[in-house]
Amino acid sequence: MNIEEVDKRRTFAIISHPDAGKTTITEKLLLYGRAIQLAGTVKARKSDRHATSDWMEMEKQRGISVTTSVMQFPYQGRTVNLLDTPGHEDFSEDTYRTLTAVDSVLMVIDGSKGVEDRTIKLMEVCRLRNTPILTFINKLDREVRDPIEVLDEIENILNIKCAPVTWPIGMGSQFKGIYHLRRDEIHVFSHGKGETIEDTNIIKGLESEEALELLGDELEEFIDEIELVQGASHEFDLQEYEEGRLTPVYFGTALRNFGVMEMLDDFVEYAPSPLPRETNAGSVEATQEEFSGFVFKIQANMDPKHRDRIAFVRLCSGKFKRGMKMRHVRSGKTLSLHNPVLFLARDRELAEEAWAGDIIGIPNHGNLRIGDTLTEGEALQFTGIPSFAPELLQKVRPDDPLKAKHLGRALVQLAEEGAARSLKTFIGGDWVVGVVGALQFEVLAERVRTEYDVAVRFEPSELYTARWVEGDDHATVKKFCDENRTALADDHDGSPVFLARNAWHLNKTEEDWPELRFMKTKEQEIV
Ligand code: G4P
Repeated sequence: MNIEEVDKRRTFAIISHPDAGKTTITEKLLLYGRAIQLAGTVKARKSDRHATSDWMEMEKQRGISVTTSVMQFPYQGRTVNLLDTPGHEDFSEDTYRTLTAVDSVLMVIDGSKGVEDRTIKLMEVCRLRNTPILTFINKLDREVRDPIEVLDEIENILNIKCAPVTWPIGMGSQFKGIYHLRRDEIHVFSHGKGETIEDTNIIKGLESEEALELLGDELEEFIDEIELVQGASHEFDLQEYEEGRLTPVYFGTALRNFGVMEMLDDFVEYAPSPLPRETNAGSVEATQEEFSGFVFKIQANMDPKHRDRIAFVRLCSGKFKRGMKMRHVRSGKTLSLHNPVLFLARDRELAEEAWAGDIIGIPNHGNLRIGDTLTEGEALQFTGIPSFAPELLQKVRPDDPLKAKHLGRALVQLAEEGAARSLKTFIGGDWVVGVVGALQFEVLAERVRTEYDVAVRFEPSELYTARWVEGDDHATVKKFCDENRTALADDHDGSPVFLARNAWHLNKTEEDWPELRFMKTKEQEIV
């Protein structure tokens, strides 16, 4: 086992509110990773892809990426895997589940907006696993809010301590650069366009001639400000960062590519290498000899003519080699992997070998599902890859009633793939589809039409939320189901789901059935 290979892996995702600058900063990271030569090409690539692959009409029409892509690039002797999370108007369970496949995250905040709702939601997901978080406060080339106020907001709303590592000197048209608190250096803003990597002019020491020359009368004021910041904030502490209780904070502008490198340098240094993962048979260390991994995302029908699906597998331990045989734990079958794909920043390549922390894509015909575990033989099952209770529920009907069966098949397949929850009511056998974000209804209607040739209508329902029903005593679960048939449905695995009409209905039911649990998330059945 080559421990060095595992040690140098950094697998992370970026969380942010739409428009905070995730795409822009991704580009700059790729620039540092030498995966692109000129920033501005990721967006171009996005539109190229729409023009050529077309796997979903939606993407083209909206000009957004509904899918999660994976990019690998080298930086300072490390191998960085960046998992992109969809960040537009809408989002889906993919976004959440991507966060189960990373070891840390980068939180990008728009300095003029501060903490926004999407960030709060994504942060809640990170909390489930105490994921370490690095923070980049963006758009300092504009008039932004008082940085101290933004830090306060992060601390109070997101409930995490802030340890500023760099601090901005001015903002907007008066933005002069950043002060590196630990190194006692001023990195001078160069006013470049940010399309390439430029050398940064560094001034050693805040109390130096050069600093005085740069800042003039403002220097004294800035020194006071730094004292205030140091007094009011926390010092960086690696352990607290690793435990998700403290976030180092960096300031800059992604667009102008300034302050990003300082963040990236620390990121590869501090961000954890692949962490141990929990299974039903105890935790698995990334450096363990035998291969293991789990499926966290399925992207289906990339080519509508062939029913192909790519399962994205996060490697948790061992080394993967092309052609190797592995055990698909849920079915007990052996799979030979001859054509797995590794996602490099520029292109997809056939994966010859990969290590814990890497993501490989496995083309398959529907036998791999979200949450599935692959091993070299062990019968273990990774846990903590939840399905989320849908927040929006609608009824779905085929335009042609004779196609009800086809619709059922399509919905079950899409549910297996994790694209939505497909629920079949106990009474009437109607289909109710639940999603996390409203855009998913349109995506689903489009997919059912193009991939399964069934035209469907979604109809608003009066349902408020869905909860999986669990209980230690099987008889109580059955009794509950018998007495509440009008409010129950089966999910695609046949697990009972309670459909609440409103918040009161849910609360009342929870009160009436204290021995049952009404779950927002469901783990894959342990085999
Ligand atoms: P997202 O992926 O998080 O949704 O954000 P994205 O990077 O697409 O950035 C959203 C907008 O903010 C873009 O402008 C982008 O150019 C701008 N932006 C990102 N970083 C900075 C920054 O550091 N400073 C300033 N001033 N702007 C920044 P847009 O007009 O919506 O798109 P575009 O037409 O410029 O590409």
